[in-house]
Amino acid sequence: MPDGFYETSRALSEYLLFHYGKPDEVLPWDFGPTDALDYPVRCVTECVDTSRIPDDARALDLGCAVGRSTFELARHCTEVIGIDLSESFIHTANQMQKDGQLSYQFAVEGELGQATVAEVPSDLNLTRVRFEQGDATFLRDGLGQFDVILMANLIDRLPCPADCLRQMSGLIVAGGQLIITTPCTWLEEYTPRTEWLGGSQAQTLDALREILSPDFILDAERNLPFLIREHARKYQWSVAQATRWIRLAPTG
Ligand SMILES: C[S@@+](CC[C@H](N)C(=O)[O-])C[C@H]1O[C@@H](n2cnc3c(N)ncnc32)[C@H](O)[C@@H]1O
Repeated sequence: MPDGFYETSRALSEYLLFHYGKPDEVLPWDFGPTDALDYPVRCVTECVDTSRIPDDARALDLGCAVGRSTFELARHCTEVIGIDLSESFIHTANQMQKDGQLSYQFAVEGELGQATVAEVPSDLNLTRVRFEQGDATFLRDGLGQFDVILMANLIDRLPCPADCLRQMSGLIVAGGQLIITTPCTWLEEYTPRTEWLGGSQAQTLDALREILSPDFILDAERNLPFLIREHARKYQWSVAQATRWIRLAPTG
């Protein structure tokens, strides 16, 4: 991971706000892209097909950061595992799971910050969720199989996203769903150009189709805006491409 960005206090503060910030904390203006708020929640509410989720379902949130989508998946699944490479993010996600809340500061300008509390919605069952540090490209044995796997804004941060995706057919039950969201921000600092899934020979969706098509069918596609606040007057506004893939029954 370049410069260990996801281990820094700046990343932790930005992602706590991105995942748990109230609308007027993220965007303290009476104008702005409000439809880009609450992205980690919308990755679940707008992308997962809940009608396909069986009772006692299991879900996996790969690249979960500080865990908001992991908690949201627990509305529909009785067991949810969140995995991230960042020790700092997983430590924080575990604190959120234990206490349901955490005090932190987010940036206003320069060294000025604003104190607030990140809270998991009180109607969520925290006991359904657990977090572990791990590498999404080399997932440990014994995870079992899942009805839902979410990869939100992960693939363009991996050194070899194709290797990560090739694990998916063995991890998802027939009829289960794989949700991939990505702003397709391919950068050599994260992914060597030879491993990019888009942005050179083809677009990302074509590469995803080629890697996943033997075992998955593309079920839905949509555009999801999101907003990451750097400070009160500076934001990253992006539009992720979100796709839902359904695991086909193995043949033969
Ligand atoms: C752009 S952030 C997206 C986080 C979260 N899914 C979201 O949408 O807010 C990318 C995340 O992937 C994690 N990450 C990067 N490389 C990883 C790897 N090899 N395995 C697991 N997580 C990784 C980072 O620590 C970070 O939390």
